[in-house]
Amino acid sequence: MSALPPKRESFGSKFGVIAAAAGSAIGLGNIWRFPYVAGENGGAAFIILYLAFVIAIGIPVMLSEFTIGRRAQQNVYGSFRKLAPNRPWYLIGIMGVVAAFMILAFYTAVAGWTLEYIYQAITGGFNGKTPGELNNMFDSFTSGTSRPLIWFFVFMGLTAFIIMAGVKNGIEKSTKILMPLLLIILVILIVRSVTLPGAAKGISFLFKPDFSKIGASTVLEALGQAFFSLSIGMGTLVTYGSYIQKSDDLGSTAFSVAMTDTFIAIMAGLAIFPAVFAFDITPGYGEGLVFVTLPNIFQQMPGGTIFSIMFFLLLGVAALTSTISVLEVIVAFFVEELKMKRKAATYLATFSVSLLGIMCVLSTSSMADFKIFGFTVFGLMNFTTANILLPLGGLLIVIFVAWFFGRDKAKDELTNGGKLKALYLPVFMFIIKYVAPLAIAFVFLQGLGLINLK
Ligand code: PHE
Repeated sequence: MSALPPKRESFGSKFGVIAAAAGSAIGLGNIWRFPYVAGENGGAAFIILYLAFVIAIGIPVMLSEFTIGRRAQQNVYGSFRKLAPNRPWYLIGIMGVVAAFMILAFYTAVAGWTLEYIYQAITGGFNGKTPGELNNMFDSFTSGTSRPLIWFFVFMGLTAFIIMAGVKNGIEKSTKILMPLLLIILVILIVRSVTLPGAAKGISFLFKPDFSKIGASTVLEALGQAFFSLSIGMGTLVTYGSYIQKSDDLGSTAFSVAMTDTFIAIMAGLAIFPAVFAFDITPGYGEGLVFVTLPNIFQQMPGGTIFSIMFFLLLGVAALTSTISVLEVIVAFFVEELKMKRKAATYLATFSVSLLGIMCVLSTSSMADFKIFGFTVFGLMNFTTANILLPLGGLLIVIFVAWFFGRDKAKDELTNGGKLKALYLPVFMFIIKYVAPLAIAFVFLQGLGLINLK
């Protein structure tokens, strides 16, 4: 008598699926990168383009990932193995697991910074500091070694703790609490920000379209931002897709997740820019905007301490629901391919990611001069995942579904075996056959500098 394989876990409810997948999508990419990139690229004009890409390309890629995962009921590598036995498509899965290692290593480093800033906010560390002093504070924190390392490990530990508890009791349970919390904090911050005197300038900075700023590079920025922000191209959503119940509607799930992610990105812009302009500050660049400019604003505003605690908590929560989704890619792979217990797989994944993560953390201090292809380890992980692995993965995923897996099986999966209508199917097939591969290839080549359209 052969033993039955242990029952595979799945998400318990549709809300759970959306909380988990939106939790993955909503992260540092929305709250830290999107507002700045949108602001610098013509505000509303960029947002319109970004929206168009999310709908026309992002949702189809996301739906392709869900389709693969739910069909195969396996981790990202096992999914391709199962759907295309004895074919090299499983290489997409290997690439996905490698990308997961790399993203987790540098992303958790930044996530750790948010913990330091929660701590600073609570202990009044920003109070009475000039912009220059706040800048020094950020520099001296990131050029140290022990504090960024400690926070990195705390964040890895939190991530591992949730993953160990499993799909339903870990991922689903935590995201069902954390995502509403995130929304509440964001709404409070937006109300505070837009009611500051002088906030209107920030609102128009974000929403007044400036089409003169739209060029080829803007178009590519918008597509790249859509990819990273939606967590597509490396199998996170293949893995999560494998936990979606057979009765759920994949089409409406992908649509809701992508819309929620985009909505939060715009809301984050609304929380940040009006405040920045109300205090007559020039929007800083990337890291600076969140870790230097915002503390400066908070310590000038009434009730700033509480708002700064909320903001960095928001950033930490958003990052945590993303890091768990990336760790799950690796853990599911270890569990199913190396036949490990979930706990042991989580320890192994956390330990091995940490080896790379330590190098990312030290990239702003003792390893700042250690360069590979001119990049620090942090920079290399960041560049290689966003500009190479995600676009390449996304490209191959849509090609796989459109040209190998095929319309009939895709239809079967998207209609739940004929129970749903999926009227969007012809459009979906056309996009994944032609539009998405061409558009993604374009971003990919630009990212690698093989073509250069400025
Ligand atoms: N989408 C996440 C963010 O915006 C980052 C991420 C990328 C998560 C790829 C998982 C996979 O922060």
